Amino acid sequence: MLGSMSKHVLTSVAWPYANGPRHIGHVAGFGVPSDVFARYQRMRGSDVLMVSGTDEHGTPLLVQAEKEGVPVQELADRYNRIIVEDLAGLGLSYDLFTRTTTRNHYAVVQELFRGLNDNGYMVRQTTTGAIDPRTGRTLPDRFIEGTCPICGAPDARGDQCDNCGNQLDPVDLIDPRSKIDGATPEFVETEHFMLDLPAFAGALEEWLKTRTGWRPNVLKFSLNLLKDMRPRAMSRDIDWGVPVPIEGWQDNSAKKLYVWFDAVVGYLSASIEWAWRTGDPEAWKKWWSDPEALSYYFMGKDNITFHSQIWPAELLGYAGKGDKGGEPGELGVLNLPTEVVSSEFLTMSGSKFSSSKGVVIYVRDFLREFGPDALRYFIAVAGPENMDTDFTWDEFVRRVNTELANEWGNLVSRTVSMAVKNFGEIPTPGEFTDADRDLLDDAAAAFDVVGDNIAHSRFKAGIAEAMRIVGRANGYLAAQEPWKLAKDDDSRERLATVLYTALQVIADANTLLTPYLPFSAQQVFETLGGTGVWAAQPKVVEVTDDSPLTPVGVGLPEAGRAYPVIMGDYTDQQATWARTDLTPGTPLVKPVPLFTRLDPELGVTGPEWARISPDETAEEVAEGAPEQDTDK
Ligand code: MF3
Ligand code: ZN
Repeated sequence: MLGSMSKHVLTSVAWPYANGPRHIGHVAGFGVPSDVFARYQRMRGSDVLMVSGTDEHGTPLLVQAEKEGVPVQELADRYNRIIVEDLAGLGLSYDLFTRTTTRNHYAVVQELFRGLNDNGYMVRQTTTGAIDPRTGRTLPDRFIEGTCPICGAPDARGDQCDNCGNQLDPVDLIDPRSKIDGATPEFVETEHFMLDLPAFAGALEEWLKTRTGWRPNVLKFSLNLLKDMRPRAMSRDIDWGVPVPIEGWQDNSAKKLYVWFDAVVGYLSASIEWAWRTGDPEAWKKWWSDPEALSYYFMGKDNITFHSQIWPAELLGYAGKGDKGGEPGELGVLNLPTEVVSSEFLTMSGSKFSSSKGVVIYVRDFLREFGPDALRYFIAVAGPENMDTDFTWDEFVRRVNTELANEWGNLVSRTVSMAVKNFGEIPTPGEFTDADRDLLDDAAAAFDVVGDNIAHSRFKAGIAEAMRIVGRANGYLAAQEPWKLAKDDDSRERLATVLYTALQVIADANTLLTPYLPFSAQQVFETLGGTGVWAAQPKVVEVTDDSPLTPVGVGLPEAGRAYPVIMGDYTDQQATWARTDLTPGTPLVKPVPLFTRLDPELGVTGPEWARISPDETAEEVAEGAPEQDTDK
């Protein structure tokens, strides 16, 4: 079997900004895909470490705190808790979902910075920074907009042009203006630490050239970035963030590390936090220092640059592997990403996507009304895996009703009901016919197909194959007509064989669907007479910030502060990536409906809390690019 050799698989999931509740577009990009992947890897026997947390620095947090009139840490605390609850509710099986305002995170970020600086890859430079002349405050790159000096697109951001994909400097924009109030920014001199990206061009190219199996657009975009490598500022004129750990800087509350410098280090700091929280402080090294370990990073496409360029450059520089050489820091040589898995955007029709524009579909509302598996299913089958994809209530209702409820839920309930009624247990089969064997073989062969697809992040193809087996089982029942066999005493053995075959294939399909639909998979498992944990779920745990590491500088997170994290014990679950042979004689439980059928009217109106407004056509909304929450 595939998973006989235990492999260490780091599953790194993009860190959502704690500046508001997350909407379903967010979890479509990073959440559900990474969880399907991690759950599959665990089932096949890999040793998975899945980490993430809330991203709490940078201007997105400051801007929102100002809007709400609350201190920024208070804002972060509030949304960190909401996001933790939402993601746990969706069943995302993190080993640790933490946050960036912890002493541990600050200390690890500072260690990375020091290592890079010691090796000569952090270069001090006086640059021009933008100031809003009306407020006197610094204007971060993403809050400046203007005409792209390269392609002429009228609405390029200060940091990057989404039209041509090039990295920009705000000062090069033609007709720059503040996105906040339209003012023309003033450019002033300010000193910053620049990451010497050109010194990593060779090493990054070498690494990217050895990448196989990446989604073609992600690899192409990443290779393209190599053409324009410029030093990039890793500190900011801002009073909220990780102190720059250098004499003369660390006590300056007006300069902090750039939010993206610290956020990507989160994958490492969370792994380190997980290790000491679970009692083996060195355990993180199995995923970071062993060159055989694999690491997969999941995110939306607006994050690619930071994961296929900035983060690998930070890792290379810390290891002394750029053009300037150097020595590895005290954490040692750390693994570069095996793969950067990026999704496109989920857009909305009718109900608008962005909170600033009106209706938004929050994860929590969605979970309350439809439960986690309906959303997980929709994202898996109809999500933005390879292109921007529109969410419509109409399609959601149709897929839940016809695919989840009719095809899958109904297959389980009518088969188990028939078996309960006629045998009360899993029947003992007689001799198999070709039709029985054909179906059983097809289901057994699907494990490799679905597994291979998930391992390569082809989640749609994976679930399509699982649902093909469901469809075949339905076709089998239609052809064998067990309800007719049940009426004839002479056909009892044949009835037992048919129901046994169908139940075995249901168990197989349930295993194949477990990474996608872990909640209903547990139910189906119990319906088939199973006891105990089939698919383990994450838990929200209250912890305190008692990191053994000590960060330096001013404005540090308080020691001992309490916060919620997502953790979980996934080792005791019974689900493995293989057929579980059913045992005849196992008592069966009368099934309860797995999925509630939705009122088709919902597809027309949307739910009360996200009404489709009648004056809006789908076309109008689909045209607008989704707003991105990135602070670049
Ligand atoms: N907060 C960023 C966003 O929402 C993602 C950060 S991913 C990380 O776009 F790795 F940098 F943390
Ligand atoms: Zn451009």
